Amino acid sequence: MPTKLTALLACALLAQSAHSQRQATISIDATKPGSTIASTLHGIFFEEISHGGEGGLYGELIQNRGFEESRLPPGTELKAGWLIPLQKPHFMMQPRVSDWRMEWPLTSQWPAWSLEAGAAANIQLQLTKEHPLNDATPNSMQVDIRSLDASGNNSLVNEGFWGIKANKDENYDLSFYARTGNTYNGKLTVSLRSGSGVILAQHSFSTVKGNAWKKYTCVLKPAASDGKARLAISFGSTGTIWLDFVSLFPQQTFKNRPNGMRRDLAQYLANLKPAFIRWPGGCFVEGINIESAANWKRTLGPVEKRPGTYSVWGYWSSDGFGYHEYLQFCEDLGADALYVFNAGVSCEYRSGTFIPDDSLQPVVDDVLDAIEYAIGPVTSKYGKWRAANGHPKPFPLKYVEVGNEQHGPRYAKRYNVFYDAIKKKYPQLTLMASMGIGDINKRTLDSMRHVDMADEHAYKSAYWAMNNYDHFDKYKRGDWDVYVGEYATNAGVGSGNMLAAVNDAVYIMGMERNGDLVKMSSYAPLFENVNTRHWPVNLINFDASRSFGRISYYAIKMFNDHRAGQNLQTTVHVAAPTKPAPQFTGGIGLATWDTQTEYRDIEVVKDGKTLYKSDFINRPQEWQSVRGIWVVKDSALAQPVQGAQRLSLLKGYSFDTYTLKLKARKIGGTNAFIIPFAVKDGASHMRVHIGSYVNLNSVIELVSDSFSVANMMPQKKLPAPIQMGRWYDITIEVGIDQVDVYLDGQQLISYHEPNKFFSIAGRDLQTGDIIVKVVNGSETPYTTTINLAGVTAMASTASLITLQAESAEAENSLDQPQKYIPVSTILTGIQPIFETTFRPWSISVLRIKDASWKKQAMQ
Ligand code: AHR
Repeated sequence: MPTKLTALLACALLAQSAHSQRQATISIDATKPGSTIASTLHGIFFEEISHGGEGGLYGELIQNRGFEESRLPPGTELKAGWLIPLQKPHFMMQPRVSDWRMEWPLTSQWPAWSLEAGAAANIQLQLTKEHPLNDATPNSMQVDIRSLDASGNNSLVNEGFWGIKANKDENYDLSFYARTGNTYNGKLTVSLRSGSGVILAQHSFSTVKGNAWKKYTCVLKPAASDGKARLAISFGSTGTIWLDFVSLFPQQTFKNRPNGMRRDLAQYLANLKPAFIRWPGGCFVEGINIESAANWKRTLGPVEKRPGTYSVWGYWSSDGFGYHEYLQFCEDLGADALYVFNAGVSCEYRSGTFIPDDSLQPVVDDVLDAIEYAIGPVTSKYGKWRAANGHPKPFPLKYVEVGNEQHGPRYAKRYNVFYDAIKKKYPQLTLMASMGIGDINKRTLDSMRHVDMADEHAYKSAYWAMNNYDHFDKYKRGDWDVYVGEYATNAGVGSGNMLAAVNDAVYIMGMERNGDLVKMSSYAPLFENVNTRHWPVNLINFDASRSFGRISYYAIKMFNDHRAGQNLQTTVHVAAPTKPAPQFTGGIGLATWDTQTEYRDIEVVKDGKTLYKSDFINRPQEWQSVRGIWVVKDSALAQPVQGAQRLSLLKGYSFDTYTLKLKARKIGGTNAFIIPFAVKDGASHMRVHIGSYVNLNSVIELVSDSFSVANMMPQKKLPAPIQMGRWYDITIEVGIDQVDVYLDGQQLISYHEPNKFFSIAGRDLQTGDIIVKVVNGSETPYTTTINLAGVTAMASTASLITLQAESAEAENSLDQPQKYIPVSTILTGIQPIFETTFRPWSISVLRIKDASWKKQAMQ
C-alpha cells in the first residue's frame, strides 16, 4: 500500500511530467527522395596527440625505448627552459618572425626510466652518443655499476606509459641491444613487476657480454595480471654496460601483426567501420618548425633505425606506427587511406617557417615517392621498397591531402603546384585542399585552379550545432565536395558528455541532410591517454589497461551503422509548449576573469516582489567564495586580484523567471563583468559576460566542469569598452527561455534557447528500410507523431536504437565504460501515422520496414 506521502509524491511527479511533455510531428514523404548520402561519410582521423599512438594505439609497452626522448627537435635550441625554434620568417606573417616558444616539458634526461637499487648499490646513469647503435638514433644509456646491493635489487626500471598492462599467461616479446665493458661479467635479468613489486615474469641472461652491439631477446609470460606493471633490468655484475632500444611488445596485437596495434583500441576503430583513415595529423604534419616536421620516409624500415618525429604536442613519436604500418592498418580495417603530407610549411600558430616556393620541387618529389610507395607497381623504386617490406600488392591509398590547416592565396599557389604534379601521375586520387580552422575559406578556394574536396575543421561549443543546423544548407555549391576533416563539440561539455553527443549527432544530421555536398567527415581528436591530455575533448580515452568511448563515439557509430543511402523529405514541427518550464532555474553569482571588479546593490525581483537584496556589510556570509579572494569593500563585494575564473556564489537561493539588477565597477585588468545565473553549482552554470574578449564584446556563456567555457551565441561588440572606475547599471531579465541583458538601460544582448528536437529520415537503399534519426537534446520528453506518406505496406514493428542519458552532464568513464551505449528495442503498432515518445537526452534511430518499396524494387 502506498503511504499518503508517496502517493502525493507520485501525483506531483505525474503532474510535473504531464506539463513538461512536449509534442512534435515528424512528417516523412517517401515519394520525395533527396540527395544521396555517401558511403564514405564517416572515417577516422589519427594524430599523435595525447599519446594517442605512442603509449596508445601502437602496441609498444616501453616508453622511451631508444633513450631518444630528451633530444631537442631539429632546428631548435633550449634557452632558460624554453624550446626556441631558429628565427626564420613566418609563412603568413613574413618578413616577420614568430616569437612562439615552448616551455620544455622534460625534467629528466631519460624520461620513464629510473634506478631502483638497494642501499649498498652504486649505479650511475649517463646518456651517451659514443658508439651509437645507428646514426639515426644517436643516444644510448651508459650504466656504470660500481657496487651491487646484496639483495639483488640493482635495477634500471621503465614505468611504461603510466604503467604496463601485463596479462596472465600471454606472451610478451622482450628485446634489447647491449654492449659491455670488459669487466661486466655477463649476468643480466629482466623482469616484469607488478605495481606493488611482485615479480610476474622473469628471464635471466647469463652472457650479456661483448664490445659490439648485440640484440638479446626472450619471451616473458606473466603469472598474474596487472595494469600497473613495470619492466626491470637488473644487473648481475659491476662494470659498465650500454643499453639501447629496449622493447616489450605483446604478441597479441590487433590481427596479431608484429609491431602491431593495441587490441582493445584498434577494435574501437574497427567497430566504427570507417570508410577511410586520415593520417598522421593534424598539426603533427606541420611540425613546430619545418626542420622537425613529419616525413614518411623516416618512418619506414627497422624500428630501431627510425629517428622519430617530434610531435607539436610536446613529446616524441618513435614512429613505430609508421607509414607502412598505417597503410597496413587501413587494409586491416577495410578502410581507404587518406595521407596528409607537409606542404613545405610548418604550423602557423608555432614558428610558421617554410620552404620557399622556388625550392619546393624536392617536396613535390617526396610526396610522389610516398604515393608510389603506397600504390606504385613493384617494378617502381618505391613500389619495390613496399614489396621488400612485405606488401607487394598496392595499399588502398585513395586520398592525399596537401598540408593541414594551411590557407590563403599563398598556400593556394603551392597547392596548385602539388595538385598538378600529383594528378598528372595519379589522376585516380582525390586531393584534399586544406583550409584554415573554421569554415571553407573563400579566398583560398578562389585562388585554387581545381578542388576535389575542401577540408573544413569544425571545433564548436555546446549548442552551436543546434543553433546552426542550416550551416551546410547555406554553402554555395561548386564543382567540389566538402570533407569535414576534424569536428567535435568540445567547449561547455565537460570532458565529452551527453550534451556533446547530442550536438555532435545534430551536426552529423546537418552533414547527412547535405549529402550532395558533404562526402566525408572525421571526428577529432580520436584518442586520449588520460594521463596526458593535450586537447579538451577526445573520442576514445584509455590508460595502460582500460579504455572507453565517449558518448559521441556511440552516436557516430550508431549513425554510421544506420546510414541511409538517400534522404527523404522530412519536416519537423515542434508545438509550442502549453505550460513551458523555465529553462534557467538556479542560483546567481559574481565572477571575474583577469580583472579586478566590484559589485554592489544586487537585487532579484519577480512579479514586483524583491526575492533577494544584498547587504554585504551586514550579511557577507550569504556569499561563498569558490575561487579567488572576495572582500567586502564599502558596500560592495570586490575581487581585487588578477587571475582566471574567480567566482563567488549566493548561497541557498534558486530563482526562475526574474529580473536581476546590480551595479558593477571595473578597477583593473583585462575584461570586465561576469554574472553567473542558472547556477547548479560552482562547476556548472550560465553567465553573462560583459567585456569578454579583452573588453570588446559581450556574450552569454555556458560553464561546465568548472573551467570549460562555451559561447552560447556569437560574441557581440560592445558599443564602447567598459571604462575603468565607473559604476555601471546592469539589468538581466531571465525569462522562461530567453535572457535579455541591459547596460545602463540600453539592451546589449539577447539570448533565446535553441530548438533542441531534430529529425531526418532517409532510405537504406539495400533493404528499403526507412531510417528515422531523432535527437532530443533537452530534459523534456517529446511525444511525437510520425507521419509517413507514400508507404503503402509496412511491418507493424520497427526497431528502435536509443542512446540515452539522465542528464547533459552524463559521461562514460574508465570505471563505467559502457554506462551510456545504444540499446535496441522493438516498437509495435507501426502504421502510416503512429505515435511514440523520444526520451530526454536521447539520440534515436528508428528502422521501419517498408514492404511497398521492396515490391517496387522487384517489379
Ligand atoms: O585535433 C587537434 C588539432 O586541431 C589538430 O592537430 C589540428 O589540425 C586542429 O587545429
